[in-house]
Amino acid sequence: MSLPKGFYIGAATAAHQVEGNNTGSDDWALEQLEHSEFQEPSGIACDHYHRYEEDIRLMAAAGLNAYRFSIEWARIEPEHGHFDDDEIEHYRRVIECCRQNGLEPILTLFHFTSPVWVIREGGWENEKVVDYFRDYVTYVISRLGRGLHYVVTINEANMRLQITMIMERFQRQLMAQMQGAAKAPAASDQAEETTEGQVQVGLNLKALMAGREAAAKEKAAIFGTPDPKTFVSPCTPEGDRIVMRAHEAAREAIRAFDPAIKVGLSLSLHDVQAAEGGEERADREWDDEFLHYLPYIQNDDFLGVQNYTRAVIGADGEQPVPEGCETTQMGYEFYPEGLEHVLRRVAEEFHHELFVTENGVATDDDTRRVEFIRRALQGVEAAVSDGLPVVGYTYWSLLDNFEWQKGYSMRFGLVACDRDTMERTPKESLAVLGSYIKESLV
Ligand code: BGC
Repeated sequence: MSLPKGFYIGAATAAHQVEGNNTGSDDWALEQLEHSEFQEPSGIACDHYHRYEEDIRLMAAAGLNAYRFSIEWARIEPEHGHFDDDEIEHYRRVIECCRQNGLEPILTLFHFTSPVWVIREGGWENEKVVDYFRDYVTYVISRLGRGLHYVVTINEANMRLQITMIMERFQRQLMAQMQGAAKAPAASDQAEETTEGQVQVGLNLKALMAGREAAAKEKAAIFGTPDPKTFVSPCTPEGDRIVMRAHEAAREAIRAFDPAIKVGLSLSLHDVQAAEGGEERADREWDDEFLHYLPYIQNDDFLGVQNYTRAVIGADGEQPVPEGCETTQMGYEFYPEGLEHVLRRVAEEFHHELFVTENGVATDDDTRRVEFIRRALQGVEAAVSDGLPVVGYTYWSLLDNFEWQKGYSMRFGLVACDRDTMERTPKESLAVLGSYIKESLV
C-alpha cells in the first residue's frame, strides 16, 4: 500500500440526489411535470437533510477521512437576492459534524441543480448567470469558508457540452432510422441504446422524445420558455464559455475571502481510447472533453477528476461495448483502469493537484464494487508512486441515491438506503474503502 499519509479517501454525494424535498430547484419542477422525462421524482431522496449525522458517522466508523457534498443553491437563495441564513446554518452543522468525526469536508458549490428563478432568467445561456453565481458563492463562502481546504465550484463543468453532443448524435440516429423505415418501429429504442450509455449521468432519452411536445407546454408555464436552459441541457459554444466564466468569477470570490482555500472545478472525463482509424476523432473528443478548458482552469489549485469508464473511438465514432464484456447498471463497460489512464493523461497538461472527486460503479453485486474500488485504487497508487500530484479519492457515491432521470434504479452506493424506512445498511465495499486509510497509515 503506497498511498501517502494525509491522502484523502472518502465518499461523495450531491444535495439534490440525497437530501430530499429540494422544492426550489429546476430539477424538482421538471420531476413533477405530467410529461416528465424523469422515471420518478426525487421526493424525500435519502432524507440526508435530516440524517446527515448518521451518514457521516457511518463514514467515520469505516475509517474514511473525507466527505464531498454539495450546497443547494435553491435552498440558500430561493428567490433572487433573498438569502436564507437558516439554510446556511444547516450546512454549517454538516461541516461541523464532518470535523467532529475526523472527515475533511470537501464542498461543491454547484452540482447540476439551479433555483427555478435562475432558469426563468435565461438559465445557463444568459451571461447574467455569471453574476448570479458570483453573488451566491460570495454569500456562501463568507459564511462557511473559514477553515475549508478544498472547494469545487462547478461539478462536471463540461457536462453541458457532453449532453449537446449526445443529443445531436441521438437526433441523427433517430432521423436516419426513421427515414430508413416505417419498418423499424423500435427505432428509438435502438438509438437510445447506442447513445445513452455514453454520457456519465443518468438520462432517459426515449421518454424525453415521446413526451417532448406536451412537456414543452408544461415547461413554458414554469420557466417562461418551452426550452429551459438548465445546466443539464444542451448548450451553445457561448453557453459553454459562460460556465467557465461563472467558474472564474467564483474562484475570484473565494480567493478574495481566503486565498488559502484550494479552488477547482470538476470534469467528467472518459478514458478516451482510439481504435484503428479513430485517432482523429478520439483527439477531437479529448479536446472537447478536456483540452479546450485548459485556459480557464490553468490558474486553479486543483482539478476534480471524475471518471466512470472508457470510450473507444473508431472511424465511425464511439464503439459499442464489445459483446461479452461486463457492463454496469448504467450500461457502461466495467473498466476501473480508466481512472489511472485519465489521471496520467490529464497530468500531462494540467500541472496542479488532482483530486478524484468521483469514480464508482452502479451494481447490485457489491463484490463487483469491491473489485472496482480495488482496481481503481491500484491505478491511483501507481500514479502517485510515479509522482503524480493526486491528493484524494472520493467514491461515488456514499448512498444508493437519486440518479437523475433514471430515478432510484441505479445503485452506486457504499451504503444501501431502504426506500420505505430510510434505514441505512453499510455494504462490504464501505469497509473495504476505509481499510485503505488504515493501511496507508502503517
Ligand atoms: C454526476 C453524478 C451522477 C454520477 C453517476 C456524475 O456524472 O456528477 O451526479 O450521479 O455521475 O452517473
